[in-house]
Amino acid sequence: MSQKASLHKPTFHQDEFLPFTRPDIGDEEIAAAVDCLKSGWIATGPRVQALETAFKETCHAPYAALLTSATAGLHLSLLAMDVKEGDEVITTPLTFISSVNAIVHTGARPIMVDIDPKTLNMDVSRLEDAITPRTKVLLPVHFAGLPVDLDPLYEIAHRRGLRVLEDAAHAVGARYKNRAIGSFGDTQVFSFHPCKNMTTAEGGCVVTHDDDLAKRLNRLRFHGIDRDAWNRYTKKGSQIFDVVEAGYKANMSDLQAAIGLAQLPKLEGFCQARRQHVERYRTLLKDLEAFSLPAIPDYDHDHAWHIFTPVIHPEKAGLDRDTFVTKMKEANIGLGIHYPAVHLFSYYQKTWGFKSGDFPHAESAGNRIMSLPLWASMTPDTQNRVIDTMKTIIQRA
Ligand SMILES: Cc1ncc(COP(=O)(O)O)c(C=O)c1O
Repeated sequence: MSQKASLHKPTFHQDEFLPFTRPDIGDEEIAAAVDCLKSGWIATGPRVQALETAFKETCHAPYAALLTSATAGLHLSLLAMDVKEGDEVITTPLTFISSVNAIVHTGARPIMVDIDPKTLNMDVSRLEDAITPRTKVLLPVHFAGLPVDLDPLYEIAHRRGLRVLEDAAHAVGARYKNRAIGSFGDTQVFSFHPCKNMTTAEGGCVVTHDDDLAKRLNRLRFHGIDRDAWNRYTKKGSQIFDVVEAGYKANMSDLQAAIGLAQLPKLEGFCQARRQHVERYRTLLKDLEAFSLPAIPDYDHDHAWHIFTPVIHPEKAGLDRDTFVTKMKEANIGLGIHYPAVHLFSYYQKTWGFKSGDFPHAESAGNRIMSLPLWASMTPDTQNRVIDTMKTIIQRA
């Protein structure tokens, strides 16, 4: 059966609300979930182990640990890197809030470096200015699935003795200089949320090249217990265990892993399809001066295109981003906003002293950015509908 034939509801009627994303779930995922439900084992178990093995092979990495979310992966990885109060972690202001909340949850201070306005990734050339004796970890985000320029970033990290935690929530399937994200470097965190390039319904995965970090993470995700807890329910396992630190509860279930095992073989196809849709969007949007499209950097990479994010120019469009998004919604098309700049949120201003103007490029992008509908099985008709509606709104403005 072809991938498309097995997908559930790839098309939308003209008068139906079009979401900005939807998971590409086929008969294989449904059958895998049903098998798991019938198997008598739905919590963490053999399917989680199988997906960890398959995912680390895909990433060419020695360790992979599945968790309930990438948010948990970021938090627990920072703890496993011994980040605590008094430390600083450097990240970008143009990210989902969980990248920065994870830093705060460890007690460390979040430090931000403005973005490059063309790529929307952290501007690595400004990174060294933000490093202090308290800096412990660099936390770059591969925004939209575009790999950060990792060679200069790792050069700085090695020279200054810093750890690197890559927020690769958007970058499942991305490559930097012909190497899969996750296949080199320190530690990477992927998201399998339903809007990501592959899904486990909710879920995330930490990939690492560090033996000690992998062991600590394994404990932290399950109460601080000293070994694979699910084994104790099997005939071979033992019910006796020790708790070696006060851990958390963030282990993925086999039911989620079953879905992931059906998704993973399709990942490359999903990414290819997203790349084609983005090429088509670019062609259809090229004469619309009201928008600028994401720049493609010079270094060799394969973009994962988790999201496609034009930036509106209100003076050319005749309306601002929020009005445009509202008008699209009135026309039955949902757009995403990824993301308002983190330093503008009230908590970050009140508690950490950030203020408007601190990161002008992130602020400007955050106020003008939008994500167009994008998922692997979307059809050309759906894309035409999005672009026609955009053009009509701009013409009327
Ligand atoms: C950049 C970034 N980091 C982390 C996350 C958290 O992922 P999850 O929803 O799996 O916790 C997201 C979620 O969208 C994200 O966009």
